[in-house]
Amino acid sequence: MADGSAIVICTPHVHLVDVGSLPERVRDLDAALRVAQIPLQIAAGGEIRAGALPTADELEILAQGPPDRRWVLLEAPLEPQFIDAFHADADELESRGYGLLIGHPERCEPLMAPGGGLEERLRTGAKLQVNASSLTGAHGQRSFDAGLNLVTRGLVAALASDAHGPHRPPLLTEATRLLAARGIDAIPLVGDGPRQLLREGIVTRRHRPAA
Ligand SMILES: [Fe+2]
Repeated sequence: MADGSAIVICTPHVHLVDVGSLPERVRDLDAALRVAQIPLQIAAGGEIRAGALPTADELEILAQGPPDRRWVLLEAPLEPQFIDAFHADADELESRGYGLLIGHPERCEPLMAPGGGLEERLRTGAKLQVNASSLTGAHGQRSFDAGLNLVTRGLVAALASDAHGPHRPPLLTEATRLLAARGIDAIPLVGDGPRQLLREGIVTRRHRPAA
C-alpha cells in the first residue's frame, strides 16, 4: 500500500508451495484485508522454476489473463546450468498455449548473452518482467546494467516488486524514482503495463493446435 500498489498478484516460488492450496490461502488473505479495511486487490499466481514444470491442473490455477490469452510467470534461472531447462519449459508452456511472462531476465546471464534466446522468445510473444530490486542495484552491477538496458530499449512490460518479506520489501517507488532521474518514465511499467497484461493477456505464436 505504501508503495502505491492497488493490485497484487501473489507469486510464490511454485516448487516451494502446494499450488492447490493457493486459491484458498489467497481468499483467506483477501478476507483479512477486507476486515482490516485495506483496499488491496489480490490474486493467486506463482513463479515457475525452470525444470519444475507444474501439472496441467496447477497451471490453470497459476495462469493469469483472459481465457484465450492466458499466461504464466516463468523464472529466468539464476543458475546458468538451468538455461536449457528454461528454454525446454518455455517451449512446452507455449506449445500448450500459454503466453510467457519471463521473470527477471536481467539476472540470467546466459539468456541475456548474444544468441542466448531472448530475442527469439520476444518474437514468439513472450513479455519481460524486470525486478525493481535489480534497478536499485540490489543484485549487483551486472543485473542493474542488464535491467536498465532492457527498460531503455522498451522491451519491458512490467516491473516486479520481487518483495519477499520485511527483509526484501517492495521497491517499485524507489526504482521508478531512480529511472526518472535518468529521464525514463517507468510509471507505465508499474501501472498500465501490468494492468494490460492482466486485462488483455499474452498471445504466444508458438501454439501447437491439438491434433
Ligand atoms: Fe525469481
